[in-house]
Amino acid sequence: MKYLITICICIILFGCNNQYSGNINDVVKYSEKQLEFALKKIEPLQHEVKIFPRTLENEKIKLVSSKDWTSGFFGGNLWMMYELTGKNEWKKCALEYTLPLEKEQWNANDHDIGFKMYCSFGHAIKNVDNPEYREILIQSAKTLSTRYNPVVGCIRSWNSNPKTAHWKYPVIIDNMMNLELLMWAAKETGNESFKEIAVKHAQTTAANHFRDDFSCYHVIDYDPETGEVLNKNTHQGAADDSDWARGQAWAVYGYTMMYRETGMEEFLDMAINIADFLLTVDGMKDGKVPYWDFKAPNIPNEPYDASAAAVISSALFELYEYTNNKAYLNTAQNLLATLITPKFFAKTGKNGGFLLKHSTGSKPYDSEVDVPLNYADYYFLESIIKSKKYEENQNLALSKE
Ligand code: GLY
Repeated sequence: MKYLITICICIILFGCNNQYSGNINDVVKYSEKQLEFALKKIEPLQHEVKIFPRTLENEKIKLVSSKDWTSGFFGGNLWMMYELTGKNEWKKCALEYTLPLEKEQWNANDHDIGFKMYCSFGHAIKNVDNPEYREILIQSAKTLSTRYNPVVGCIRSWNSNPKTAHWKYPVIIDNMMNLELLMWAAKETGNESFKEIAVKHAQTTAANHFRDDFSCYHVIDYDPETGEVLNKNTHQGAADDSDWARGQAWAVYGYTMMYRETGMEEFLDMAINIADFLLTVDGMKDGKVPYWDFKAPNIPNEPYDASAAAVISSALFELYEYTNNKAYLNTAQNLLATLITPKFFAKTGKNGGFLLKHSTGSKPYDSEVDVPLNYADYYFLESIIKSKKYEENQNLALSKE
C-alpha cells in the first residue's frame, strides 16, 4: 500500500501526462513495446561486427561490437523480457543478441568479461538447456582468472592504454560485478579456485577501496610486485576523494551479490555499511535519482545518472531480503518509482528504443553525458523483476493469513 502511495505521489510530482498508470505490470507492458521498437530500429543499422545498441550519440543509436564492455546488456534486457512475459519470441531475440558474444570467452584484455558474458550467457543458461553455454561461461571464468595476481589479491581491471598508463595495476570498484561469473563457475565445476579468487578480490577491495564512511574510491593502483597500494584515484568521478555515483552503486551491488553467493557475514556487513552510507545521500531515501557524482561541483546543475539509481534499487531490493531492514526496501521502491515517472522512463517510440533517459557514462571525459545507456535499462529491468517478486511474496503471505 505504501509503495502504491509512493508511486502515485511520484506521478503527481513529476507530471500527469505519463503513458502508464504507475502499475508495475503496465511498466512491463510499455517496456516490451519499447524493446519491440528498439529491435526494429536497430536491425537496419547493424553491419559486420557492430551489433549491440549501447546509447544514443547525436540522436542516433550507437552500436558496438562484442568487445565493448556493454555488449552483454542488450541481450540481457531481452532475456529479462522473456523472464517477465514468458513469450518465446523474446527468447529467440535474446539468443540473437547473445550468441555473437561467444568469442569473448577468450578475450583477456580487461576485466569486463564478467559483465559481457554473465549478463548475456548467464541468462541463457538459466533459460535454455544447452551444455555449450555452460562451456562458454566456464571458459570465460578461466579467462577472467588469468588477470588475477595473488600478490595483490585482486583481478587487474585495465591494461595500460593512453588513458590508464599512469597506473601500474589499476583495480576499479566496478570489478566487484565481475565476481558473479567466478562464483557461478565455482559452483558449476566444483573448482574452488574460482571462489578463492572472487573472495580474495572482494576482501582486498574491502580493505583498500573504502573510506571511513563506506563511500569508495573508483581506482586503487597497486604495486604488482609487492601488493602495496600506490594511489587512490578516480577515473570517472569528479575528484579522487569524491563519490562517483555508479561506483557507489557497483559497491553495494557487488557486496550484496558476494553475500548471496558465499554466505560470508563479512560481505553482508560491507553491503550494509555501504547501503547505510547511501541512505545518507541527499534525497536517496526518497528515491531521488542521484547526480553523476554525489559531490559534483555544480549540484543541482549537474547531469543525473539513472544507471546508478537502477543499480542501487536492484541491490537494495535484494539486501532487504537478507536484512529485513525496511529502509532498504523503501529506498529501492522509491528509486524505482522515480525511474518509472515520465522524467526518466521514455515514451514508447522515443529515446532510440532505450527504456531510461538521463544516465551518465563518463562526465570527466565528456562521454555519454545525460543519455540513455543499455546498462541503465538492464538494472532497471532487474529491479522490476525483484519488485514483482517482492509483491508476489507479500501477496502469498497475505493469502496464507
Ligand atoms: N564499468 C564502467 C562503468 O561503470 O562506467
